[in-house]
Amino acid sequence: MSTHLAITLLVVAFLLLLVVQVVILFYVRGALTGDEASEPVDEEPQPHRRTETAGLVGRLRRNGAEQHSRTVREIEALIDLRALVPARTTMPSTQGWAASPLTVSALVREVLETRPQLVVEAGSGGSSVWVGYCLERNGGGRCVSLDHDADYAAKTRADIERHGLTDYVEVVHCPLVSVDVAGETFQWYDLSKVEGLDGIDIVFVDGPPGTTGPLARYPAFPVLRDRCAPGARFILDDAARPDEKAIVHRWTHEHGATVVDRTPGPLGCATVRAD
Ligand SMILES: C[S@@+](CC[C@H](N)C(=O)[O-])C[C@H]1O[C@@H](n2cnc3c(N)ncnc32)[C@H](O)[C@@H]1O
Repeated sequence: MSTHLAITLLVVAFLLLLVVQVVILFYVRGALTGDEASEPVDEEPQPHRRTETAGLVGRLRRNGAEQHSRTVREIEALIDLRALVPARTTMPSTQGWAASPLTVSALVREVLETRPQLVVEAGSGGSSVWVGYCLERNGGGRCVSLDHDADYAAKTRADIERHGLTDYVEVVHCPLVSVDVAGETFQWYDLSKVEGLDGIDIVFVDGPPGTTGPLARYPAFPVLRDRCAPGARFILDDAARPDEKAIVHRWTHEHGATVVDRTPGPLGCATVRAD
């Protein structure tokens, strides 16, 4: 082979290699960037994308405004509560699992206005302290607060002692047991642990937690109704949650309860009359 032919073949081979590299590079770039690689970066958003973005921004604004409005209402309720029910020492927080200021306001209003002899609370905590102060201010009445959790019951008991309200509030540790309501079984408080639950005027339903089973708070009305005084009220917390909506529906449709009040708030509460 002549030197000239060898050089020509080398150049052709080099050019072929170059073409193959360019083709490979082109495909790799396409795979990494997708279709966008071929779109101009400063292209105007499509009309449907502009509408979607505007809708999202609108929803965020509305959610923000609603959230702000709720927070303000909760703060106003807490300020009113503090003025209405002065405490001797620091109150438990209204955050976390505790009843919100708007729910506590509904409960406090009910206790101060109706001057109950007996309040039963399903789920103890900060609400027990608020009720204790209201009964003290009323000059009588007692609250029996049920808690399925021994540690939590002890914590609430300590709060009641710290506030000097043991004459008004008794916290009872009631483990959950199987309770039959018209052929359905629920996990609910073991009432054999409590004495003297007759003539109930107000039931505050804030337990057991939903984590203990579906419609966990449903048994409160069917189980306690026969132990209630005429005109008794049940206040159900978190009434806007799907489970609690279903509970109110069943209380009213299956057991003849009447909804007499609903409060706003993140989850709100519903007050129903037993007769
Ligand atoms: C919704 S809480 C009751 C809150 C109470 N009524 C109040 O206003 O503070 C229902 C039950 O959940 C349990 N509990 C309360 N706080 C909890 C927490 N941070 N973590 C787990 N369980 C809690 C307690 O046993 C309580 O009886």
